[in-house]
Amino acid sequence: MGAREAGLPDVVPGASLPSAVTIWEVGARDGLQNESAVVPVAVKLEFLDRLAASGLSVLEATSFVHPKWVPQLADAAEVLAGLKPAPGVIYPVLVPNERGLDRAVEAGVTHIAIFASATETFASRNLNRTLDSQFEMFEPTVARALEAGMSVRGYVSMCFGDPWEGPVAQSQVVAVGERLLGMGCSQVSLGDTIGVATPGQVESVLAGFRDVSSLAVHFHDTYGQALSNTLAALRCGVTTVDSSAGGLGGCPYAESATGNLATEDLVWMLDGLGIETGVDLDKLVETSVWMAEQIGRPSPSRVVRALSK
Ligand code: HMG
Ligand code: MG
Repeated sequence: MGAREAGLPDVVPGASLPSAVTIWEVGARDGLQNESAVVPVAVKLEFLDRLAASGLSVLEATSFVHPKWVPQLADAAEVLAGLKPAPGVIYPVLVPNERGLDRAVEAGVTHIAIFASATETFASRNLNRTLDSQFEMFEPTVARALEAGMSVRGYVSMCFGDPWEGPVAQSQVVAVGERLLGMGCSQVSLGDTIGVATPGQVESVLAGFRDVSSLAVHFHDTYGQALSNTLAALRCGVTTVDSSAGGLGGCPYAESATGNLATEDLVWMLDGLGIETGVDLDKLVETSVWMAEQIGRPSPSRVVRALSK
């Protein structure tokens, strides 16, 4: 059930809101990478199948990062080998470097995402590189992926604040993001990795980019601002929003990061605004309740809690 079926009045979207939003579902990757328990491959596969059945069309499936850095996703090849892709659904994976790309190619991947940092400290902690040298890793990776006909997304982490460095300058975020776009990334997702952003800051960072239509947003909900930030981004022209079913997630290399914006919370807001997502909210809630049982922790999503009582 959505806000509309609940009998709430229809809200006519303002001219600046899009009529449809693409949800980039990151639960199986960003969500599970931060669970202390390693989720069995069979559970990951059922999770992906259920997410597809709920109408989500982009399912970030796993990461080809170093298995010692993220043991929770060390089974990436097995997950992809067992995956039965649903029609019309894409399954991007995270790839940091050429070694990761080799593994992704072997697994038959068509969509990858590289992930850069906007700050020096996080580049070191998350990638073992400096702010500059992360690009030496990405450039040949992206060039080869594009040559192979893959689609490449870029992430920028720590766009709105960094746990070690504090506030992050807009110019720093824009420089990293534009560099990824210049490299051939078809879309750049701006990450509030630790969930500290507020809407005015979102507008200010987005305003620094030449073309907002090539941007997506990736909010974590640490301070309860993820939905307000999303609405601000939509009003600026963004039409792709990252979220995680049930609000799973965080980031193992940023301790203050809590879960991503929950997909259910996002869908409730978008449904209420009359913005198309293609998602069946009831099916998605059932999936997150099931996943919460698998990992032994209740979903932090308000909408999951409200609809599963
Ligand atoms: P490194 O130690 O500098 O790697 O790590 P290296 O290039 O020096 O290679 C060392 C060894 O690792 C070599 O093996 C490589 O082959 C191997 P050896 O020759 O010694 O036997 N190796 C690999 N093996 C398997 N797969 C690979 C791979 N790469 C190298 N891909 C590296 C550098 C980037 C690999 C490491 O730092 C890493 O894996 N980091 C990933 C951390 C991560 O996944 N973090 C979470 C994702 S980011 C995030 O969540 C934020 C986001 O959601 C957005 C937001 O919230 O803002 C995207
Ligand atoms: Mg994230």
